[in-house]
Amino acid sequence: MSSVPVTYGEASITPRGDYAHCRADYTCAQHWERYTADQHALFARLYARQMALVPGRACEAFVRALPHLQAHSGIPRFADINARLKPKTGWEIVAVPGLIPESAFFTLLSQRRFPVTVWLRRPEEFDYIVEPDLFHDLFGHVPLLFEPRFADYMQAFGQGGLKAQGQHALQYLARLYWYTVEFGLIRSDQGLRIYGAGILSSGGEVEHSLHTPQARRLRFNLPRLLRSRYRIDTFQATYFIIDSFEQLFEATAPDFTPLYAQAAAQTEIEAGAVLPGEVDEAV
Ligand code: PHE
Ligand code: FE
Repeated sequence: MSSVPVTYGEASITPRGDYAHCRADYTCAQHWERYTADQHALFARLYARQMALVPGRACEAFVRALPHLQAHSGIPRFADINARLKPKTGWEIVAVPGLIPESAFFTLLSQRRFPVTVWLRRPEEFDYIVEPDLFHDLFGHVPLLFEPRFADYMQAFGQGGLKAQGQHALQYLARLYWYTVEFGLIRSDQGLRIYGAGILSSGGEVEHSLHTPQARRLRFNLPRLLRSRYRIDTFQATYFIIDSFEQLFEATAPDFTPLYAQAAAQTEIEAGAVLPGEVDEAV
């Protein structure tokens, strides 16, 4: 399969991976033996930096599951993670060359298979990378696949994606993914916590998301969220807060068909905008 532009967020980019050797479902071999010592060391440095940031800031389920990755000293083998993940929630991770087309992505999620990019960022991208790489996919996304409620949400999302494709509603569903799976915040008894993978794999956004006065933090509100634009190349200007994964699963369970129609009939909301009557959640 050759390298084709894929949509990522509201942009279209030509992914940098090697698509020549993947299967029809876009999965490929991890080829763990091909990672260099420098790549293992870079991965370990990325891991150490995030580990210093997440306690007390990431949600408890994420922190609890991190040791299952066995990733502190270098890039883990996906098969080893699967040996621990599959018995817990029925999910497994599969290797992919990089970003994959939406239909392939949704299909994998609907089968409880999470695609993880095999390539690692370059050293000069240590602080920020737009296109998801191995570190983002693995560190950011995989821990919560050990959380049963969240794991169910991810599968429902995949099924919802396949359905939305036929309804020309993908831009709305992409927003839901963005504001929950990638950049979601969650309440806990100890205060606001992060569950979004895009935040948790980022050196700078962990603090920004929780504390900057420049960002809006709104209570999870599905119709509002579906109208909300977002940014893919800088820290987010708006975050949505859920009370629990239970709430997220329940709120997204109903048929979205009327919600899509409603969103299409209303204006979009710019990132960072506040509507009349909307209040920032106290943090
Ligand atoms: N309930 C949604 C629909 O009918 C599917 C969905 C579930 C989408 C969970 C996202 C997350 O389309
Ligand atoms: Fe991601």
